Amino acid sequence: MNDAAVQKLLGKIDWDFPDSHSNYGLHSLHWYPGTFIPQIPAYLIELFSERGDVVLDCFCGIGTTLVEAVRLGRNAIGMDVNPIATMVAQAKLTFFEPGNLRRLSVAAEEQLDVLCLRYGLHGDSDLFRRIRRAHTLKNEGEFEVLKPWYHAETWREMLAIRELVDQQCEPFRRVCESVFSSIAKACSSQREHWGYVADNMIPRSLIYYDAVNAFRFGLRTNVDAFERFLETPNLKDRTVSELNTAARVLTVNCQDMGEIEDQSVDLIVTSPPYLSVTDYMKSQRLSLWWSRYSVEALREIEIGARFKRTRTKAFDDYLEGMTKSISNMARVLKSDHYLCLVIGETEVQRKSHQLIDRLRNIVLEQGFCEPFGKIQRTRTRERLKSRQGAANDEYILVFRKA
Ligand SMILES: C[S@@+](CC[C@H](N)C(=O)[O-])C[C@H]1O[C@@H](n2cnc3c(N)ncnc32)[C@H](O)[C@@H]1O
Repeated sequence: MNDAAVQKLLGKIDWDFPDSHSNYGLHSLHWYPGTFIPQIPAYLIELFSERGDVVLDCFCGIGTTLVEAVRLGRNAIGMDVNPIATMVAQAKLTFFEPGNLRRLSVAAEEQLDVLCLRYGLHGDSDLFRRIRRAHTLKNEGEFEVLKPWYHAETWREMLAIRELVDQQCEPFRRVCESVFSSIAKACSSQREHWGYVADNMIPRSLIYYDAVNAFRFGLRTNVDAFERFLETPNLKDRTVSELNTAARVLTVNCQDMGEIEDQSVDLIVTSPPYLSVTDYMKSQRLSLWWSRYSVEALREIEIGARFKRTRTKAFDDYLEGMTKSISNMARVLKSDHYLCLVIGETEVQRKSHQLIDRLRNIVLEQGFCEPFGKIQRTRTRERLKSRQGAANDEYILVFRKA
């Protein structure tokens, strides 16, 4: 297709896809701030790549681009510095032979029943109360930091589920870890949005949430979502082992993409962190703690994190991080192939930094051209509400490597 035809197609699209659902199937399994609506990467992948091509998302978050790439018959590489994001992305891209995931989930639910009995959970008779008093849960000391976030009974249930997840073997363990992480915030007593968790605002009053049932429900939702995904017409002729090798997910700082060979990628579709809008790492504080990570150690690596906004060098550091990342993108992308960036303009302390134009210049200096100009995406109120952690106006920037 020539440039004029592509330009026409890009201009014709309403990039907010107002008539489409965005939170469905595999995309709905775990919350995360500022995720793509899947229609954006899907459209760009179909327009700028072929079946069998390699699509890279170097800020992949929970893997929206990767899932869409695999659905469309491409191979995918995703990277992100947040280990919860990559764990979830990896779990979404782990496929089982027909019936196996359902069987493993049923067995896990039965194991959970046994743990509930052993620890006297989920029952209110005298017997349950006596068992409760007699048994300290495994790992109780290890997760002490999480205790103030949960009602005492929910806390005991979460510990039992943690024990269950630790007992599972790969690759099913990955699915369980992702389900467990998906309920960590919902079962806590912090009812406000994730910003409160990011800012370490421990709940004032503790409310009971049934973590055991939330986990069961999460497992069943995963099973249904995977079964439906595998029914996608595009995937019918692909074996499970082919699908399992179609995507690679790396937990790395994308300022250092050493694992990816020069000129090995056919298309990059990515949405970098916006400057000072979101704390991706801190938003997953509870999941990180439950997965035995240190939030403090990891958060510094995050480009553009909101908590760094008052630092005098916040903007320069952001540009430096983005410059290194973009030069890596230039190295791994094949010549004459496309880099698509979805990015929003943000204000820091009421000052606009003309961020988008600066980022465009960085990309152009790396030997790219911009054949189609800046494409604006104005989001409806509805979309903004459902995807906290992104700017009002976003742009889709498409560059071609010389
Ligand atoms: C806008 S989000 C991407 C969301 C993704 N498109 C999705 O649908 O889930 C930006 C991502 O950049 C990641 N990130 C920030 N600094 C990074 C770095 N130095 N290396 C790799 N990823 C980084 C954040 O953890 C976050 O997941």
